Amino acid sequence: MSKRVLHAALLGLGTVGTGVYKVLKQQTQEMEQKIGAVVELKKILVRNLKKAAAKIQEPELLTNDWQEILEDESIDIVIEVMGGIEPARTYITEALTAGKHVVTANKDLVASYGGELLDCAAAHHCDFLFEAAVAGGIPIIRPLKQCLAGNHISEVVGIVNGTTNFILTKMEQEGMEFADALALATKLGYAEADPTADIQGYDAGRKMAIMASIAFNSRVTFEDVSTQGITHISSKDIRYAKELNCVIKLLGVARNTETGIEVSVQPMLVSEKHPLATVNDSFNAVFVHGDAVDDAMFYGRGAGELPTASAIVGDVFDIVRNILFSCTGRISCTCYKEIPVKKQEDMESRFFMRLHVDDRPGVLASIASVLGNNNVSIAQMIQKHKHRHEDLAEIVVVTSRVKEGNFNDAMLIIESMNVVHKISSVIRVYGEDS
Ligand code: NAP
Ligand code: HSE
Repeated sequence: MSKRVLHAALLGLGTVGTGVYKVLKQQTQEMEQKIGAVVELKKILVRNLKKAAAKIQEPELLTNDWQEILEDESIDIVIEVMGGIEPARTYITEALTAGKHVVTANKDLVASYGGELLDCAAAHHCDFLFEAAVAGGIPIIRPLKQCLAGNHISEVVGIVNGTTNFILTKMEQEGMEFADALALATKLGYAEADPTADIQGYDAGRKMAIMASIAFNSRVTFEDVSTQGITHISSKDIRYAKELNCVIKLLGVARNTETGIEVSVQPMLVSEKHPLATVNDSFNAVFVHGDAVDDAMFYGRGAGELPTASAIVGDVFDIVRNILFSCTGRISCTCYKEIPVKKQEDMESRFFMRLHVDDRPGVLASIASVLGNNNVSIAQMIQKHKHRHEDLAEIVVVTSRVKEGNFNDAMLIIESMNVVHKISSVIRVYGEDS
């Protein structure tokens, strides 16, 4: 019997595209037994043909003409790994409209236009899969959509950016300052050439929007996510966190509360006892709480050539199985609810703050009184260092869980007090009151 061959086109041959090319080659021998057909790459779209030709054994596959792929009826599956919004959005829409199934790793696109693309896929009975868009090689989209579908998920918390986790780990374990750790991350190839989206929390925000939409069955876009980066975190904050038996991590937190969905990304103190506290270097992890499963954690490599390709090829194989069993388009958009997304000032959190204040009687009492008047209750306080040449004391206050709006009101007053010289840090603390 002749083997069944399905054709795919790859859009992009950068880090991830090269990984997909390699993993498909590594699977060639087993593919037919594993999934019932062989997937052959028929075209690879790039901008720079010469640069790409040096990366593969069959330069004749390369093209810089999208129409060549779109008009080729033998191409069943399009794998988009170019990145960015345009032309990826247009190409994916055109591919789906032409009845081609699509796999993408593009979190920027899915976080803002996922609903539109899933609707387009459903209208044309196609699969649109994006496992690699969140946490690279870690399976999380399929677990949320399928394996955990028997749950009401109340919380998804993730370390979903490898660059920032690497930087914070170096700051914590080797006492590096932020700028030095970022330079090392860049040298080792973890950080992008422009690391803004990583260090400002935008990359993690996009991944959290995608996970929150799926976990809570209600559309959340990147624009709904409150994001704060890690550029203001100092080694001193990390040392104080250690004294409080915590580490500092860039956490994406998504909660489905009675009053709406909360989604945010920010550096947070995390208790050393929490499993996420042990996720170090460029590793990622996603912690999920469901009413049936209880707690579940997914851990692994959140980026890189082969880990990301692992997720993409898994999606491609799923599509092949669906094509062979004539059941494509089975799992489309799962956002069947319309839950409001809360503004940051209406969310609740615990806070860590570090202040430089006058070192004289009554100062602590006056700060405590402002916090109390704004319904902010103090859970812990540390006063240790006195500046050598000034009459200043450094105090650290950890609050109980408070409404963000109340905390911000208190901070505005504290900032204007004569006895307060500087508010050096304000960092949220993950978890309930201890
Ligand atoms: P990359 O290394 O910059 O590669 C991008 C590739 O796409 C290059 O081959 C580029 O071709 C091609 N390309 C870009 N725009 C194009 C256009 N308009 N027409 C034709 N080809 C175009 O990017 P990457 O790191 O592989 O990332 C790709 C996607 O995967 C992004 O959406 C990213 O967010 C996502 N992702 C990446 C990782 C990771 O670890 N890198 C992990 C998860 C998800 P030229 O070189 O010829 O310009
Ligand atoms: N820049 C991302 C990170 C990798 O550092 O995790 C792609 O998602």
